[in-house]
Amino acid sequence: MKLTLKTPAKINLGLHIHHKRKDGYHELETLLQMVSLYDELELESLTSGIELECDTPGIPTDDTNLAYRAAHLLQKTSKAGDRGVRIRLKKKIPSGAGLGGGSGNAAGVLLGLNRLWDLKMSRSHLASLAAELGSDVPFFLTAPCALGTGRGERLEPLTPSSKFQVLLVFPGFPVSTSWVYQDLKLKLTKRENNISILRKFLSQSDVARLGSRLYNDLEPLVIQRFPEIQVIKDQLKAHKAEGVLLSGSGSTVFGIFDDPEQAKTACAELKGDWECIVTETVVSFSEFLPEKVLAYP
Ligand code: C5P
Repeated sequence: MKLTLKTPAKINLGLHIHHKRKDGYHELETLLQMVSLYDELELESLTSGIELECDTPGIPTDDTNLAYRAAHLLQKTSKAGDRGVRIRLKKKIPSGAGLGGGSGNAAGVLLGLNRLWDLKMSRSHLASLAAELGSDVPFFLTAPCALGTGRGERLEPLTPSSKFQVLLVFPGFPVSTSWVYQDLKLKLTKRENNISILRKFLSQSDVARLGSRLYNDLEPLVIQRFPEIQVIKDQLKAHKAEGVLLSGSGSTVFGIFDDPEQAKTACAELKGDWECIVTETVVSFSEFLPEKVLAYP
C-alpha cells in the first residue's frame, strides 16, 4: 500500500526571543504561517525496516534525517514496531533556509504513517510526539497559522487571514539554526515584543500594516554575518513589498504582497540574482492533504 502527500513550508511573521532557558533552548513567541511551497512524500508499506530515498543530493537519508526519525519514533512508540516503510522524498523547499522543510517532512511522515499503519492516533497525540523531533514539527500538525510559545512547540491555532502573497528569496547558502541561537546569547538587547500587534493585523487581513510590523529578533545577528541578506531586503522593499523579513534563523528572506501582480513583478526582477518563488499563504489543511489523511482517524 502506498500513500502520497505534500508537506508545506512555513515562515515566521514575527519572532520574539524572551530568554535562554536552563535546558539550552530559548523561550520565544512566534507567529507561524504555512505557505504554498511543498515537498512531496511517498510512503510505501514494507514488512520491516525504514528506507529513505531523496531526489536531492546533500540531504542525508540516514537516521539524521527528521523524516527517518519520525518513522522510527512511531515504530518505537506504538504497536507498529513490526511494520516498515519506504519513504521517497522529493524536495522543493531549500534546506537550512528557515522554512521548516525538514520539520514539515517529519510531520508528514507522522500523519501518513498513522494512516498507512492504521495506528488511530489523534492529531494532538501526534503533535505531542512531534515535539520530541524538533521545536517546529508540532506546528505542521496543528494549524496553517498559529502562535508558538515555549521553544515554539506550544501552539495556539489562529484563524488565518485572507490569503496574501509571499515572495520567498533564497540567497543560495544555508544558515545553521544552532549557530544562530548559540551566538545570540551574547547579543540580546532590550527589544519590543510586537507579537500581539502582528496578531491583530493578521486577524484583520491588513497586509500593509502587518508588513510594517514584521520583525525577527534573530535577524540582526544573521545580517551581521551574511550582509547579502540586507541587500535582498532592500531589493524587496524597492519592489514594493508591504513588508520584508528573514524567516526564522534564515537564510530565506520573504516579502509580503497584497497584489499578486506586484509579487510576480518583484520575482521577475530579483530572479537574475537569487532563487525566488512566489507563494501564497495556506489557510486550510485541505489545500495540501489528501482526504484519506485529512479525515483520519
Ligand atoms: O528544536 P530544534 O532541534 O529544531 O532546534 C534546533 C536548535 O535550535 C537547538 O539545538 C537549539 O540550539 C536552537 N533552538 C533554541 N531555542 C528554540 C528553538 C531552537 O535555542 N526555541
